[in-house]
Amino acid sequence: MQDRNLALEAIRITEAAALASARLMGRGDRKVADHVAVEAMRKAFDAIDIRGTVVIGEGERDEAPMLYIGERVGAGWADNDPHSPKVDIAVDPLEGTNLCATGAPDAISVIALADDGQFLNAPDTYMEKIAVGPECRGVIDLRESATWNLERIAAAKNKRIEDVTAVILERERHHKLIEEVRAAGARIRLIGDGDVSAAVMTCRPDSGIDVLFGIGGAPEGVLAAAALRCMGGEIQARLKFRSEEERARAAKMGVAAEGHIYQTHDLAQGNVMFAATGVTQGYLLAGVRFFGGGATTQSIVMRSKSGTLRVIDATHHFDTKPEYWKSL
Ligand code: FBP
Repeated sequence: MQDRNLALEAIRITEAAALASARLMGRGDRKVADHVAVEAMRKAFDAIDIRGTVVIGEGERDEAPMLYIGERVGAGWADNDPHSPKVDIAVDPLEGTNLCATGAPDAISVIALADDGQFLNAPDTYMEKIAVGPECRGVIDLRESATWNLERIAAAKNKRIEDVTAVILERERHHKLIEEVRAAGARIRLIGDGDVSAAVMTCRPDSGIDVLFGIGGAPEGVLAAAALRCMGGEIQARLKFRSEEERARAAKMGVAAEGHIYQTHDLAQGNVMFAATGVTQGYLLAGVRFFGGGATTQSIVMRSKSGTLRVIDATHHFDTKPEYWKSL
C-alpha cells in the first residue's frame, strides 16, 4: 500500500461522516445519525483517488444500500487507474450510534485501510476481547481470568492493581466480569457503547485506561486491531456467536471455529492505516464544534509501517468545501 499520502485522504473521509452525524447529536435518533454518517462517508470516497473494496462495512449487499461488504469505493475505479492504490477498507461511519443520539462521550467515525486480504473478514457477530497498550504487549492471555490478566498488567506497568483501570461495556452479559474486576480491586470505567475508542485508549498514556475487557462487535474488533497494530498495543479476541444462523454465516465466510483465539496480526495484517474523527466530545478525541458557516474537528491518523500517530485539528468552512459537503 502506497499509504503515505493516503493518511490525509483517510481523514477527509472520517471528517465528512463525523460532521454529518454531529449535526444530529442528542436528537434521540441513532438510525438517522448513522444513516447520514454512512451517506457522507460514501460520498467522500468518490473524491479520493483509491481503488477500495469494503471488507468491513454496513453489512451484506442485500441489507445495506451503501458501504456494504464487497462494494467498490474510490475515484480510482472510474478508469481503473493502475497508479491509484488498491486497498481493503474497514469502516464504521458512526461508532457509537447511541452515544451520538444522546450526546454522550466518544462517538467517533472510523476507517482502516490495508492491502488486499489483510483484514479478517469478520462476520457481524460478537467478539470477546482483551486489549492493552504497548507496555503490556505479551503479558495478557484471553484464556486466563480477568484477575490473572489484571495482575500481569499491574506488574508490567509497575503499579498496584488498585491503580489499574479497566474499561468495560455496561451490559448484562458483563455482570460477572465486572464483579470479578471489582473483587480484584481494579478501577472500572463502564461505557454505554464504543469499544473501538476504548481499545485505542489503552495505548494513549493520557487516557488513564489500562485494559479493555469484554464482549462487543466483531467488526469493531478488527478496527481496533488495526489501530493497535499502529500503536504497538495488543488485542486478543474470540468470536461469540449469538445464534446458529450467525455460526453458519461465519462458516460460509471461512472464519475459524468458535474458541479460536485471534491475535492482533490475525485480525489486521501487513501495512495498515487507521483514522478516526471525534463526533461527540470524548476522552479520546474532541467532538465536532459548529460555528457560523463552519465547524472544527479533531482526528487521529496512524500507520503501522512508521508507527507515526498524528492528531489533526481542522477548521472547516462549508462555503469553500466541495459540492457534496454542502448537503451535509
Ligand atoms: P453501534 O455504533 O453500531 O451502535 O455500536 C456500538 C457498540 O457499542 C460497539 O462499540 C460495540 O462493539 C457493540 O456496539 C456492542 O454491541 P451491543 O450493543 O449489542 O452490546
